Amino acid sequence: MKKLSTSLIAAAWAAASLMGLQTADIVAKKVNTDLSKISYSADVWNEAVFSEITLFPQTSIALNDKKANDANANAKAKKAKVAAVHNGIQIAFLIKWADGSMNIQSGYKADIYADGFAVQFPSGAFKPDTLPYIGMGSEGRPVVVHLQKAVKSFYEPNGKGNVYYQLNPNQTELFNEELDAYNKKVKAIGSNDYEKAFIAEGFRSTTEIKDGTDLSYARLGYKTDGWMGSLSRSLKDVYVDLNHAAIPVAFAVWDGEKLGRDGLKHLTSWLSVSLEGNGDGSALIAAIQDASGDVAAGKEAVATNGCAGCHQVEATDAPNYMGPSLSNIGGYATASYLRESILSPSSVVVPGYNRNAHSNYMWYTEENGKRVSTMTDYSWLDAQTLENMVAYLQTLKAEVE
Ligand code: HEC
Repeated sequence: MKKLSTSLIAAAWAAASLMGLQTADIVAKKVNTDLSKISYSADVWNEAVFSEITLFPQTSIALNDKKANDANANAKAKKAKVAAVHNGIQIAFLIKWADGSMNIQSGYKADIYADGFAVQFPSGAFKPDTLPYIGMGSEGRPVVVHLQKAVKSFYEPNGKGNVYYQLNPNQTELFNEELDAYNKKVKAIGSNDYEKAFIAEGFRSTTEIKDGTDLSYARLGYKTDGWMGSLSRSLKDVYVDLNHAAIPVAFAVWDGEKLGRDGLKHLTSWLSVSLEGNGDGSALIAAIQDASGDVAAGKEAVATNGCAGCHQVEATDAPNYMGPSLSNIGGYATASYLRESILSPSSVVVPGYNRNAHSNYMWYTEENGKRVSTMTDYSWLDAQTLENMVAYLQTLKAEVE
């Protein structure tokens, strides 16, 4: 009897210490402030708790732009500070990141790229173990992306897409003496606030949300060597349902100086946010946490199972571009995602396959309109080997700058 109670206590203690480990990456403080129109300089941020996050260079998307790809070869990870607050109706985030140069896009130049940031959530109902693919979602697992770019003057009159105001003013033959008046009018309706929201089920599938509602309120400001970006939105609308004890969120930042745009960016893995006052979010927090396997054994298992035949596993391996590079996968993949990728490659097919960059091997074929991964099926792996592999893959990360 005595023995039993001791082991019960031991079990309870183990469970408790496990629970103790399950702290969220970000804590959203509950506040009584209206958050519908707050910026990065609002007083409410004094009440917030800041967490340090790391954004990793995305390596699965290759643009058809050699100059940009070269400028970002061997890119390092970046640190940023994030805080969140909620009031039961709205949630707001603040991200601060270092950037030595202000890159602001001006409407007419197609070769100048802007600094900016994005905040991503799963769209609709989500399951902790099968979150959308981190880079803009995946088939059947949509995300909502709020994007804010530093743009000098953005001529898309109120998102109504009035083509008249998007004429090229250099086509002077269309204007005659009206050009001056036209330019004035465009200037008046042009906005220096580029704030957009997209729904996406994978890179290159983004659709801008233009339903006429004010979905979010985002602001971006530069202050001595860095940007501050804020975003507030409803906890729940037709696109997202974030009114839970804990939710996943991901951040991305772009560096215009390095010609960053689209998939050429830095991004976080899914991070857990616990919403103060909303109960116990440990299921989601645990799903996002690192695997508990043995790293050395996992490295061995990856080497003996032929993974490097298709993947660049460590940065020292020659790039082969058959499959996506795994040399940075630990930076932005959750343990759940890695398990799923190995056991069931077709569940999430990495978007962004680029024929020009990966000419020697197709990442997927299409059967009855569904993408089928060309990766070997490893569903036969035993649970321990899988956990070891995942723990090892999670150590593969770009160095922090
Ligand atoms: C025959 C080639 C091949 C082999 C062998 C292979 N893979 Fe893959 N792998 C791919 C391809 C192609 C993709 C991209 C399509 C997809 O998502 O399944 C991929 C995707 C992945 C991803 C997702 C990457 C990302 O950027 O999100 C992971 C993780 C992964 N593989 C791990 C492994 C591991 C671990 C092994 C060995 C146990 C392995 N692969 C063996 C071809 C391969």
